[in-house]
Amino acid sequence: MLNSIMEKVDSGLSRRRFLTGALAAGAALTLADRLALAQTMASSGLTAKDIHGIGVEPGLVRMALNENPIGPSPMALKAIAENMFKINRYSFGGGDITGALAEFDGIELPPPRELPAGMRGMGGGGGFRFRRQTPFFITAGSGALLTQIALAYLSKGGTEVIEADMGYGDVSGEAEDYQEAGIDVNIIRVPVKNYEHDLDAMLAAITPKTSVVVITNPNNPTGTLLSFEETEKFVNSVPENVLVVIDEAYIHFVKDPAYQTAASLATTHDNVIVTRTFSKVFGMPGMRLGYGICSQAIQEKLGFYSTGRANALAYAAGEASLKDRSHYDRSRAVVLHFRERLEEEFTKMGLEFIPSESNFMMVNLGKPSMNIMREMFRKGVMVTNRRRQQMPTWIRVSSGDERETEVFLNVLKEVLGKTS
Ligand SMILES: Cc1ncc(COP(=O)(O)O)c(C=O)c1O
Repeated sequence: MLNSIMEKVDSGLSRRRFLTGALAAGAALTLADRLALAQTMASSGLTAKDIHGIGVEPGLVRMALNENPIGPSPMALKAIAENMFKINRYSFGGGDITGALAEFDGIELPPPRELPAGMRGMGGGGGFRFRRQTPFFITAGSGALLTQIALAYLSKGGTEVIEADMGYGDVSGEAEDYQEAGIDVNIIRVPVKNYEHDLDAMLAAITPKTSVVVITNPNNPTGTLLSFEETEKFVNSVPENVLVVIDEAYIHFVKDPAYQTAASLATTHDNVIVTRTFSKVFGMPGMRLGYGICSQAIQEKLGFYSTGRANALAYAAGEASLKDRSHYDRSRAVVLHFRERLEEEFTKMGLEFIPSESNFMMVNLGKPSMNIMREMFRKGVMVTNRRRQQMPTWIRVSSGDERETEVFLNVLKEVLGKTS
């Protein structure tokens, strides 16, 4: 049985290779090769009908939800297949991915410490004898973690949250719900400056009531990036009783491989949490897996609001993903190509865009985007304009693979040519 499933997984992989052609080999192709191939494709008049995207029905080019167009790591699929017959069991002890996370994020773990006899696990056989305090707080997706943060730090009332406008807005969105329920939560939205977080203004906005400040880096939907130095300076200036949330859902798409993430700030400051997800570069939003990097003090506070662990298959797939560097590199390469290609074409078309360090890009179409989006959808291409109030002529387009990106560009040009 397992063998036949593994065969199916394997044939799925070769189908994928077939579908995306030589380009999926990615690692072997330079960005210049990819762009040259893209030029060839651009003149071939590809339409959505030519596309069979991974995880969506044929004929739909879904570039709206910041997903990974090449799907999860084949190793993750294999790990799911290998573990699927164990789901009739609770996975108490299993699913420890902290070792793999530590290696991936370059964080040194403290040695496990022996628990006092009275605190040892059930069974009398010394179960759960050792406990390691790690900086990882693992949840069923990072959205769940952001909700947990809001619950722990804002829901009691007499609290305040500061977030950029435009920012991802999940934590302040939770706070809005609390307000509607009559809870005393203040929300301060600090306008972005040149589409970037205005950290000085965010710092100046802090009051004695402030409980949480949220930074999304790279930001969603603007795709802009703060330098490590800017973030560090900000963190060092925030009072220690205020929690700084640094949402790094898209951090893996930053072009500079030497970019320093905020992880080290989370391991050295008791009031900083960095949140991460397996939904983006690792391509498994359907599995729901995310984590925070933070102090034990934060973990204790959040732990009080935990409602359940991530599931066993998510753990298995997550661990396998962390170990598959080549898939990670391929996912990055696809996104870097997408950004280069869009920048190149938008420049030729004279369209204003926000250079992005993420797997999506905002572009100003110069006319109301709603009609254009609808028309594009009729032609099989799905994008969003989530900021239509503030930016009614802009759309946000998420990364497709090379062929999907060409279809997006073809359809955009066609529709822009027709609509007023
Ligand atoms: C900035 C940001 N943070 C967090 C999330 C939530 O991701 P997930 O719940 O899939 O881990 C998203 C999803 O798109 C996001 O854009």
